[in-house]
Amino acid sequence: MPHSEHRRVAEARPNDLEAFWMPFTPNRAFKKAPRMIVRAKDMHYYTDDGRAVLDATAGLWCCNAGHNRASVVAAIKRQAEELDYAPAFQFAHPHAFELASRIAALAPGDLDHVFFCNSGSEAVDTALKIALAYHNVRGEGARTRLIGRERGYHGVGFGGISVGGIVNNRKFFGSLLTGVDHLPHTYNRDQQAFTKGEPEWGAHLADDLERIATLHDPSTIAAVIVEPMAGSTGVLPAPKGYLARLRAICDKYGILLIFDEVITGFGRLGFPFAAERYGVTPDIMTFAKGVTSGTVPMGGAIVRAPVYDAFMHGPEHVIELFHGYTYSAHPLACAAGLATLDLYREEKLFERARALEPKFADAAMTLRGLPGVLDIRTVGLVAGIDLASKPDGFGKRAYAAMEKAFHEHGILIRVTGDTIAVTPPLIVSEDEIGELFAKVGKVIEAVR
Ligand SMILES: Cc1ncc(COP(=O)(O)O)c(C=O)c1O
Repeated sequence: MPHSEHRRVAEARPNDLEAFWMPFTPNRAFKKAPRMIVRAKDMHYYTDDGRAVLDATAGLWCCNAGHNRASVVAAIKRQAEELDYAPAFQFAHPHAFELASRIAALAPGDLDHVFFCNSGSEAVDTALKIALAYHNVRGEGARTRLIGRERGYHGVGFGGISVGGIVNNRKFFGSLLTGVDHLPHTYNRDQQAFTKGEPEWGAHLADDLERIATLHDPSTIAAVIVEPMAGSTGVLPAPKGYLARLRAICDKYGILLIFDEVITGFGRLGFPFAAERYGVTPDIMTFAKGVTSGTVPMGGAIVRAPVYDAFMHGPEHVIELFHGYTYSAHPLACAAGLATLDLYREEKLFERARALEPKFADAAMTLRGLPGVLDIRTVGLVAGIDLASKPDGFGKRAYAAMEKAFHEHGILIRVTGDTIAVTPPLIVSEDEIGELFAKVGKVIEAVR
């Protein structure tokens, strides 16, 4: 078919799958056997052939309040009718301030100021840029190094992949940011296998920051960024005491500590933020996903008062931070965020997650002993299940599990490598937790 004719056909058929280059997806495999979702409500997705699919991953770790909640949908509709868009540069709308206050009130300590953006990746780049600029405005412009961690995921911006520690996310994209170093990851199967909650072993790995500080000189280091629980590389909860140790070393050397709470924020670990669970307050905290329960894109960085205050100098007509996005604090996102935070509060969903954690962990551990299960890790309403890789390809077994789960077992799971991640909406019932792990067990048997 000539190219122009092919295009016309594609335009006339919106379900032609070729035009959409899907993110983080093997496009050819998907387009041969699509997993199409057309509707959602509460704990379930519905497919184009009318099947209900239990959502075991809260979308992509984001729909913490469950799907299509009436009050959130109504708030978005109302906002769209009233004010579709207002610039956030030099102008504003009231809901932006309201939501910032609500988020700051949820965050621990003097994490009092919120910078809005539209995704976790933007939140990470925002946090890194604020950290660099903070040292600059204080006259410590030599602090330019950023320290991430192996197996860390901080989104896909150049800042995020530079401090991130996932090989495939980095190796295709050139030289990345310069002046970046990495802490070791915190996983050791021999020491930690089948741990519920934070592993006993591994706090000492934070001390590697001392080595890095000595190597580069502390006066060159701007910030350290870690996820309190590394989610995307297979659910790696922080070892007991690890985060406090990082905090202490950062304090000793004047290094800013950034927690990337894009996944752990808004109740995933049973608290508004993981920082509270661990009793460790970072200088900057990122968030996204759960802030609107996945309904409208939104992210942000929450900043401690002294960091914000450091910028509030100089002539008052001059911009203090040369950074921002057209859609920072978008009215629809703010409306969705406010309605979502109301739901979290009214239904006590963070407390609910905390109360369910032991039952969730017990249910996850029932999969121990199934064929090919090498490890299970749990924390909050999160479980990671490592499967043995097939000899003919890393990731093949878990990919098959995800496909079978969706097509044959009515459950949506997320896989990375050969790890299955289970992270349901926080509204999950005890019965659904049982159903969910029973289904995952059947899937694991099916790909033995
Ligand atoms: C810890 C962390 N940071 C950043 C991101 C990137 O978020 P986004 O995909 O919204 O850019 C993610 C996404 O999963 C994440 O888990």
